[in-house]
Amino acid sequence: MDKSSPNQNTEAALRYHESTKHSEESLRANVHFLDGQNKPLQFKIYRDVESVLLFRDPKVLDRPTPATLEAISIPASKVSGANGDENIPNLATLSQVLFLAAGITKQKRYPGGEVYFRAYSNTGALYHIDLYLVTQDLPDLPAGVYQFGPHDFALHRLRSGDYRGLLVEASGAHPGVARAPLILISASTYWRNAWKYQARAYRHCFWDGGTLHANLLAIAATKALQPNIVMGFADSVVATLLGLDQAREGALTLVTLGHSNQAPPTSPALRLLKLETEPLSRHEVDYPAISIMHAASSLASADEVTAWRGSTPQGEAVPASGPIQPLRPIADTELPQGSLKSVIRRRGSTRAFDRARSISFEQLTTVLDRATRGIPADFIEPPGVTMLELYLIVNAVDDLLPGKYYYRRADRALELLAAGDFRRESGRLGLSQQLPADAAVNIYCLSALLPILKRFGNRGYRAAQLEGGITGGRMYLAAYAQHFGATGLTFFDDEVIEFFSPHAAGKEVMFLVALGYPDLVRIVRGLS
Ligand SMILES: Cc1cc2nc3c(=O)[nH]c(=O)nc-3n(C[C@H](O)[C@H](O)[C@H](O)COP(=O)(O)O)c2cc1C
Repeated sequence: MDKSSPNQNTEAALRYHESTKHSEESLRANVHFLDGQNKPLQFKIYRDVESVLLFRDPKVLDRPTPATLEAISIPASKVSGANGDENIPNLATLSQVLFLAAGITKQKRYPGGEVYFRAYSNTGALYHIDLYLVTQDLPDLPAGVYQFGPHDFALHRLRSGDYRGLLVEASGAHPGVARAPLILISASTYWRNAWKYQARAYRHCFWDGGTLHANLLAIAATKALQPNIVMGFADSVVATLLGLDQAREGALTLVTLGHSNQAPPTSPALRLLKLETEPLSRHEVDYPAISIMHAASSLASADEVTAWRGSTPQGEAVPASGPIQPLRPIADTELPQGSLKSVIRRRGSTRAFDRARSISFEQLTTVLDRATRGIPADFIEPPGVTMLELYLIVNAVDDLLPGKYYYRRADRALELLAAGDFRRESGRLGLSQQLPADAAVNIYCLSALLPILKRFGNRGYRAAQLEGGITGGRMYLAAYAQHFGATGLTFFDDEVIEFFSPHAAGKEVMFLVALGYPDLVRIVRGLS
């Protein structure tokens, strides 16, 4: 690897992570006024570009989909291993994929204006992530570069022509990119989230991107599109292709969809795009830590990408020192059959949990089991491994003592680290909110960052955060499929690690999800 590359200076990721931790002091020192008059638009709206309408017809959007719990757990090896059959999606398939990944599923009026809620959960309902398509000629869509507009459910043409060859090059000839008829690219316009969350918004790129990708992987896999996430790409080439404003925006992932038997042709020359978009708000505030971290985790060339790709660092398994409870997943034949489309339409973050209602051990087990069966991605090698370790605070799960636990993934078992009633601590660690205190269980995704950064450089930080987001997104779906609720939560970083230490020493929190039954009475009364 090129030691002179910024990606190798991993102090940058550690500095960014440290400087965006929540603590009692950081919250006290940073009183941030949310200027409602300057709230950014929820959408990136291009002026004067051609649009291709997607299919809104329920007959298309509600085409049958398999059971959610199956869809989120199709093994990564099956998803990513191209079987050689050509699969070129058409506009109808794309319409359903884009709708269930990132479409508008409901809208609500608030005193501050209309909020359009989306298929995936997203910090602050601010929706800073866009999907772009780079495609060959599809049966009913000419080759080009398009942006998906959820607001008008249309594709906006940014370029005409087949630019996939450029992505093959930018990804260091990634074999999946070289055979994909269509590549989706996710990118964030940071201000749309930083308005509320300031520099922490860069973490949210991967958290919110992660929940979006959880949906995307599930729906695309059920269409046999063999989705594969590619995080190794030359950043500036991709940003230029999409016409991103690199001071304000960053590409996060490529996702290959489908399989073509032909390699892409040479791309047209890449001229600079100058497309106007609607102003997001009256003015924008720059949080330099974001663009600094994006630049520090950028890969400069195809050679750097090729050297970057490779095996995922794996920690040594630590022998269990506490009592072990083997998982007891619901049998395949008994799995709740809620289809992916109905569960995504019904999903919403639970706004109050019912303390009096526990979930069963089988339900919890099914969430853990189904959400952690591997992610098809270039940073997960061999397929099925993970950069995450899960820690739980169990408040109310049948047949499981309340306490703190570690998920022994390889053994498919929970290890009790300490028994006790930790509801107060659950609330405290989840930024002193009521939701984590009332939830039946809180699940933390932790990563040992140092070996990840050593292997993948700063780019490993993006990947670990994304894996946290995808796992959390799958947990949301697994909970709703079983008719209870979930919410993502933020947290006091170091206090979480202290709470689970010494076991968790040296790790960092990537994501937090709380699960439980909703308290319908409080929700209907407006949480009084
Ligand atoms: C990573 C993440 C962190 C979140 N943190 C919180 C939180 O700390 N408190 C909270 O009430 N909701 C939290 N949420 C829930 C969002 O507010 C919610 O997803 C958003 O309002 C969109 O609504 P929906 O999920 O119902 O579609 C979080 C969601 C995510 C994905």
